[in-house]
Amino acid sequence: MPSIDVQQLRLDFPLLQRKTYNRQIVYFDNAATTQKPSKVIDITSEYYQKYNSNIHRGVHYLSEKMTEAYENARSTVQKFINAQHIHEVIFTSGTTDSINLVAFSFGEKFVHEGDEVIVSHMEHHSNIVPWQMLCERKKAVLKVIPMNPAGVLDLDALESLISPKTKIVSVAHISNSLGTINPIDKIIAIAHKHNVPVMIDGAQGIQHSIVDVQKLDCDFYAFSGHKIYGPTGIGVLYGKEKWLNEMPPYRGGGDMIKNVSFEKTVYADLPFKFEAGTTNFIGAIGLSTALKYLNQIGMDKIIAYEEELKLYAHRKLIAIPNLTFYGSSDKKAGIFSFLINKIHHFDTGLMLDKMDIAVRTGTHCTEPVMSFFGIQGTVRVSLSFYNTEDEIDYLVESINKVKQLFK
Ligand code: ALA
Repeated sequence: MPSIDVQQLRLDFPLLQRKTYNRQIVYFDNAATTQKPSKVIDITSEYYQKYNSNIHRGVHYLSEKMTEAYENARSTVQKFINAQHIHEVIFTSGTTDSINLVAFSFGEKFVHEGDEVIVSHMEHHSNIVPWQMLCERKKAVLKVIPMNPAGVLDLDALESLISPKTKIVSVAHISNSLGTINPIDKIIAIAHKHNVPVMIDGAQGIQHSIVDVQKLDCDFYAFSGHKIYGPTGIGVLYGKEKWLNEMPPYRGGGDMIKNVSFEKTVYADLPFKFEAGTTNFIGAIGLSTALKYLNQIGMDKIIAYEEELKLYAHRKLIAIPNLTFYGSSDKKAGIFSFLINKIHHFDTGLMLDKMDIAVRTGTHCTEPVMSFFGIQGTVRVSLSFYNTEDEIDYLVESINKVKQLFK
């Protein structure tokens, strides 16, 4: 099956080589954060050791070098997502920060009393709460695209939710708790038919898809570095120039201004208008190194391997009696949310941990999804291209042991 040499690639990830209790760790919590290849770890350390100096602020050698590397990182991101302009790439601290930026700045300019914002039922809290905060502030209304028990969004309902008062739609590319791959191209087309812009929460999408923001025609796309094999504390907001130019800054401070006086401040042009203060510039270099690493392997190969692995995991997991799965869309990423008959998800997670398997348990920051199914949480297995069929077999064996122990 492998279109990539997984065993060879695994050697690039130091953490995957370690033991937790008794054996080499089996890391299935990739939707929470991915492990880092040595290239990312090394470049971060190298830049702190050899080039550390603040960007855009010095005429000296180090500052010049650091600024150049930071802006090259922006260019790498631009190419990775095929943004039309480099200044449409804003560095943020992560997806949450990117969504808050749009909810605040777009909301400040375009959302007024009585207006409407649409999200979906399967959103992560980070794509609900910032919009709720905006709606509270502006006395606007939050509307929700419903989903069915398979975890599939009702696009007919979206059509009927959109009204002349709708100002923006914001949806996940891939659901972090159900694994559903949303038809974002269709969602964008429906919204655009009504001249409504669309924000895509790409936290779980960017690492498992080829994202071309021009082809998608999304208005905003957000993602986190740490979920795509890069460092924590760095993320991206892509926004169409026409919106970003119209939006007021999110935060004020250094580097986002042209000039400041007590009477009036003139803001900097894009992208700096949205990058107040000292950004995580070495994080940006780590992120671009991660993207280059993925490009070297080939995103198409990664996606093909992940698809095969997902199908393998699906076949093996559904064959285990008494597992209830949440999220059964036929368009699904390698994210499996389940409960073992009557066993609390925390208990399952703790027992799997003792068998050296890392999974996530709980609500996955999607409480409305849990309420929809009338449950408190699930066990979540989320795959990456560095996972293997052997690891899936070991998971199945371990789930069977958990079942035996709770019998
Ligand atoms: N949002 C991350 C997850 O889904 C943390 O696990």
